Amino acid sequence: MAKKLIVGNWKMYNNTQKASLLLHSLSEKVETHRDIEVVLCPNTLALQSLSLQVNRRQFKLGAQNCYWRDEGAFTGEVSATMLRGIADYVIVGHSERRHVFREAERDIRQKVQAVIRNGMQAILCVGETARERSDGETAEVVRDQLVSGLANITSEEVASVSIAYEPVWAIGTGSVPTPADIRAVEKVLRKEISVLYGKKAAEEIRILYGGSVNAENTTELLSVKGVDGLLVGGASLKADEFAAIIEQAFAVTKKDANK
Ligand code: PGA
Repeated sequence: MAKKLIVGNWKMYNNTQKASLLLHSLSEKVETHRDIEVVLCPNTLALQSLSLQVNRRQFKLGAQNCYWRDEGAFTGEVSATMLRGIADYVIVGHSERRHVFREAERDIRQKVQAVIRNGMQAILCVGETARERSDGETAEVVRDQLVSGLANITSEEVASVSIAYEPVWAIGTGSVPTPADIRAVEKVLRKEISVLYGKKAAEEIRILYGGSVNAENTTELLSVKGVDGLLVGGASLKADEFAAIIEQAFAVTKKDANK
């Protein structure tokens, strides 16, 4: 069984000093569990200093974005090559990148490839908008984003990818899809992976849910069959709440193992 993956996306919050305090506080509150991987994704600037502070047995580090060229005249960008050795994971195609920064599918697929080429794990985000959902296009949208995001990835490389299903309308809103809705999307994603990379890859790939995850809904969300982890935004900025989420993830993992 793949380790459950709990990812804290701190977005553009916490300067370097506050990020360091949050890591300190989390390191005191969070127990290390063998079957759970916890990834913290601070802003790029804080990533560098947290990489010197973090106990990598307790937490892995992730970047929230990267650029796909290794180096060059790309003002303002940080490449996957520069993150190598600092980050273990990189989030790619987050809905805020897609919708606020108008990141194109072409960039997203190049980024996934760059992350893997540089020896890190990619967390590819997919998810429909409220309009796409009400038009009944959810399955089609997430399938297209998945196929496009993985277009350059070989069947060996896909082992370095996790998929985060994050409905755009659920991010930061307090609205969460029903377990049945999440399960339906999880099935669409695994089916497509199976078509592209075979049954084994489809079983092994980790599929996360993200969007308004908190300490109250963690157990329910992680109990959805096929959900292997969570991508947590707002709730990951509060040490007590994020520690409670991890404890619940551990409890769900233990329950699954005893089944
Ligand atoms: P949220 O954000 O948990 O604050 O809804 C999730 C995300 O954007 O990854």
